[in-house]
Amino acid sequence: METIDCIKTRISVRKYLDKEISDETVRQLIGCARHAPFGGGPKKEPQLWEFIIIKDKIIKEKLALEYEDRQFVKQAPLIIAVCADKTKDQKYKNWEITASLATQNLLLASYDLGLGACFITTFTHHKTHKEERRKLIEALNLPEHIELIALITIGYPDPSEEIEKKELREIDEMTHFNAW
Ligand SMILES: Cc1cc2nc3c(=O)[nH]c(=O)nc-3n(C[C@H](O)[C@H](O)[C@H](O)COP(=O)(O)O)c2cc1C
Repeated sequence: METIDCIKTRISVRKYLDKEISDETVRQLIGCARHAPFGGGPKKEPQLWEFIIIKDKIIKEKLALEYEDRQFVKQAPLIIAVCADKTKDQKYKNWEITASLATQNLLLASYDLGLGACFITTFTHHKTHKEERRKLIEALNLPEHIELIALITIGYPDPSEEIEKKELREIDEMTHFNAW
């Protein structure tokens, strides 16, 4: 798929066919994620992202929590938890930015491989959802130094899903020249 088409036509998919995603495809996805930009020089050390591959039914159930609009998480054949190792990039702490760039690579690569994916919140900055975030961290057994950034549900798209048409802001409305 052409890159520009991939970027412009990707949408979040929340209904999946009951079809396994192969280990080779998972490796391809992670292989794309690790090509995202990262700060701190072109060496291995600053590459702070960590990916947890989740196929276990019980863990998926825990990640779905109790919100009605999150229950599709249980049906996803694959969930990737995108995390950041906080022992890296200690000086600038760009953990969320760096892991988010890898997340976008995962979303686009999934789409290019014929999969559907959706970014699921981990309540990173939600003051009112501290308990929910704690449950996610507990379900994934994350150590202190690992920050949970995103969960991505992935599966082969179920064509019966009715996807609401997205409204995009106009280019001119969001573009500023030279200064604000
Ligand atoms: C920070 C963030 C949190 C999100 N959390 C959720 C979520 O918890 N559940 C969900 O169904 N979609 C979630 N999404 C997906 C958005 O709803 C979706 O990307 C947005 O509506 C734009 O639609 P599109 O992905 O089809 O372009 C999230 C996206 C982002 C960037």
